[in-house]
Amino acid sequence: MSGKKKSPSKPASSAVLTGRTEAVRVKTANKRSLASTLWLQRQLNDPYVAEAQKRGYRSRAAFKLLQLDEKFNLLGAGKRVVDLGAAPGGWTQVAVERVKPQNGKGQVVGLDILEMEDVPGAHTFQADFLDETAPERLKALLGGPADVVLSDMAAPTTGHGPTDHLRIMNLADAAYDFAEEVLGQGGAFVCKLFQGGAEKDLLNRLKRDFAVVRHAKPAASRADSSETYVVATGFRGEKRRADEAGGDQA
Ligand SMILES: C[S@@+](CC[C@H](N)C(=O)[O-])C[C@H]1O[C@@H](n2cnc3c(N)ncnc32)[C@H](O)[C@@H]1O
Repeated sequence: MSGKKKSPSKPASSAVLTGRTEAVRVKTANKRSLASTLWLQRQLNDPYVAEAQKRGYRSRAAFKLLQLDEKFNLLGAGKRVVDLGAAPGGWTQVAVERVKPQNGKGQVVGLDILEMEDVPGAHTFQADFLDETAPERLKALLGGPADVVLSDMAAPTTGHGPTDHLRIMNLADAAYDFAEEVLGQGGAFVCKLFQGGAEKDLLNRLKRDFAVVRHAKPAASRADSSETYVVATGFRGEKRRADEAGGDQA
């Protein structure tokens, strides 16, 4: 025996597709609609669903953050991380694995409009992020400048494309309003978007405030979904923020 423990903190996403290879077909039961039969079939044949269950992640979404982190090197021990739209908690679990707040340094804080079970090591609460008290509660839990602000927030889709686009952009803008206030120098912002990526205004703000701004679609993001992420790294907005605050006081 080597005595080496399998580390839960850095699962290789290349190991993600080791699950079932034979397709499972679901019979249409009398009471099950075609849509839910197809959903069930997709879940049963989705290697990320199987792998998430195997590794104890609460959602297949955990792999999206693992893959984004692998590519952009966002998370790390001792960092302060905010997770917006955290339920059921897959991203929060990944953030805790990487930050290791149990070692006494770093914080993982988050919220969701839905109730979610606590993730050991993280501080999450139930609130609408658009409620004006939510950002202050997050800041109080953070206890200092954030290294990473993640937003996987998505309102339930209405099926009306322009409405869904507006709703997600509203959440993305609010997430960046908050990130702009709390990020420390060199920090990162990751935000879920749909369809054509970031709107011009948001993209311009990100380009002004970060060294690098990229769009990314991790492999775990379903190919038939218009979901994509904007990943901005190297926050340099702290000085402008301080200058503006100084200007306000003058
Ligand atoms: C795709 S899920 C997040 C999955 C999560 N990242 C994970 O790994 O388990 C999107 C979440 O955004 C949340 N959400 C949508 N609008 C919100 C709002 N206004 N405030 C807080 N959470 C919101 C939803 O309730 C939902 O749980």
